[in-house]
Amino acid sequence: MSKQFDVIVIGGGPGGYIAAIRAAQLGFNTACIDEWKNDKGGPAPGGTCTNVGCIPSKALLQSSEHFEHAGKHFGEHGIQVQGLGLDLPKMIGRKDAVVKQNNDGILYLFKKNKVAFFHGRGAFVKAAEGGAGYEIKVTGSAEETLVGKEVIVATGSNARPLPGVPFDETKVLSNDGALRIGAVPKTLGLIGSGVIGLEMGSVWRRLGAEVTILEGLPTFLGAVDEQIAKEAHKAFTKQGLKIELGVKVGEVRSDGEGVSIAYTDAKGQAQSLDVDKLIVSIGRVPNTVGLNAEGVGLKLDERGAILVDDECRTNLPGVWAVGDVVRGPMLAHKAEEEGVAVAERIAGQHGHVNFNTIPWVIYTSPEIAWVGRTEQQLKADGVKYKAGTFPFLANGRARALGDTTGMVKFLADAATDEILGVHIVGPMASELISEAVVAMEFKASSEDIARICHAHPSLSEATKEAALAVDKRTLNF
Ligand code: FAD
Ligand code: NAI
Repeated sequence: MSKQFDVIVIGGGPGGYIAAIRAAQLGFNTACIDEWKNDKGGPAPGGTCTNVGCIPSKALLQSSEHFEHAGKHFGEHGIQVQGLGLDLPKMIGRKDAVVKQNNDGILYLFKKNKVAFFHGRGAFVKAAEGGAGYEIKVTGSAEETLVGKEVIVATGSNARPLPGVPFDETKVLSNDGALRIGAVPKTLGLIGSGVIGLEMGSVWRRLGAEVTILEGLPTFLGAVDEQIAKEAHKAFTKQGLKIELGVKVGEVRSDGEGVSIAYTDAKGQAQSLDVDKLIVSIGRVPNTVGLNAEGVGLKLDERGAILVDDECRTNLPGVWAVGDVVRGPMLAHKAEEEGVAVAERIAGQHGHVNFNTIPWVIYTSPEIAWVGRTEQQLKADGVKYKAGTFPFLANGRARALGDTTGMVKFLADAATDEILGVHIVGPMASELISEAVVAMEFKASSEDIARICHAHPSLSEATKEAALAVDKRTLNF
C-alpha cells in the first residue's frame, strides 16, 4: 500500500525543507524526501547549502579570517601572538561539526512540524489513479511508494565542470572538494572569479596558499555595481589574490604531480599555470538527475532547469518547482522564499516573492552586498537617478574596528527619490544590506533613511550618511 500525502517535497535543501515545514504549518499532511548522505551514510538534510555550500564555506571563511587577523592585525591592537600555528584538520573538523548541527536541526524541525522524512531518492512514477496527484517512488535507505496530491520539486543544482575535465575531488575540485582540502596547497588555481572563486580563493589565501584566479570575462564582477567592483578588486589585489581577467582556458592536465592549465591571456598570448590544486567555479547546473522528469512529461528549458511560471507552477497540474532547479538567482534565500510562497499558494493564499529585492552577498573581506539595480543598469534602462556614497574611512565604528575599506552607495530616482539600488563593499555588508532590502520593499526614499535615527557608533551610520549624500548633505564627510 502506498502512503498518501497532501504534499510531497522532493529535495531537502533550503527550498525543499522550508517548503515542507510551511506546508505542514498550513495543516497539510507533508512528506520530504532527501537523498544527501553524511559520511556514515545517514541522512544529512539541508542540501548543497548546508552540506557543501553556504554553511561550511562561511565556517571556513570565519576560521581563516581569525587566522589572518591573529597573524596580521592583532599587533595593531597591541596584542602579541607567539607561536601562531594552524591545525587544519581541527579547522575542517569544526566546519563539519557546524554542518552536522544544521543537519540535526532540520531533522528536529521535521519532527516538531510533523513532516514525514524519507531518506532516499525520489522519482516520479506516474500520475496517480483518478488524476489525484502523482506516485513517487523512494529508493535508498527508505524504499517506499508515496502518493502526493501536490508535489514540490526542489532538487537543487550541481557544480558545472569544464568540458572534458571531470572533478576528481583530489586535484580538480568542485565546491565539495574545495571545502575539505587536507593540507594547505602551496599553489592553488581557480577558474572563475565569481562568488565561489572569490570566497574559496580568500579562504585558502588566508591559510597560506598562493592563489591565482583565471576569469573568462574581461570585467571583474560584471553583475556588481562598477564602482563597488573596482573597490573590491583593489582590496583583493592588495591582499595578494592574483586575478587574471579575459582569459580563455585551454587544456587542463592533471596526470602529473599537480594540475597544469594552458590558457590564452587577455592580450592573446599563450600562457600556462601550474598549481597543486585547481578549483573549478564556473557556475552551477540545475539538477534533475534520476527524477524521471521525461517519464511523466515534466518540461525542462534549454539549460536543463524545470520550466515554471512566475508562481513556480510547472506544466504538470499539481507539480511545482522551486530553488536552484528553476530560473532565477541560485541563492538559498531565494529558494526558501519560493518554497514558502508555493506552500501558501497550495493553501489558496497569495504567496509572493519580489525578485527586485533579493539581496546578494559575497562573504569576502571586505564583504560585498547589494540589492536592486546597479548604476550601469540604470544607465542602460535610461532611468534618471541620483547617487550618494559614504566611505567607511569616515565612520567611527569602522575606525574602531580597524576595518575602513569600502563604502555604501545609494542610487535613488531623480524625480521621486525612491531607492533603486544600494551597494556596499566593506565590513559587515551582509548585515547592513538588510536595512536597504526593508527600505526598498516598503518603497522608501533615500530621504526616509536619511531622517531615521541610527545608533552611534555603528556601521549602519554609513548607510544613513550615504542616503544623506544623495542630497549632498553628508554630516561626517
Ligand atoms: P539544494 O540546496 O541543492 O538542495 C537540493 C537537495 O535535493 C539536495 O539535498 C539533494 O541531494 C536533493 N535531491 C536532488 N535530487 C533528489 C531526488 N531525486 N530525490 C531526493 N533528493 C534529491 N547561497 C546563499 O544564499 N548564500 C550563500 O552564502 C551561499 N553560499 C554558497 C557556497 C557554495 C560553495 C555553494 C556551492 C553554493 C552557495 N549558495 C549560497 C547557493 C545555495 O547553496 C543554493 O542556492 C541553495 O542550496 C539552493 O537550494 P535548493 O533547495 O534549491 O537546492
Ligand atoms: P558564478 O556564476 O558566480 O561565477 C562563475 C564565474 O566563472 C563567472 O565570473 C564566469 O564569467 C566565469 N567563467 C565561466 N566559465 C568560464 C571559463 N570557461 N573560464 C573562465 N571563467 C569562466 O558561479 P560560481 O562562483 O560557480 O557559483 C555558483 C553560484 O552559487 C553563484 O552564482 C551563486 O548563485 C551561488 N553562490 C552564492 C554564494 C553567496 O551567496 N555568497 C556563495 C557561493 C555560491
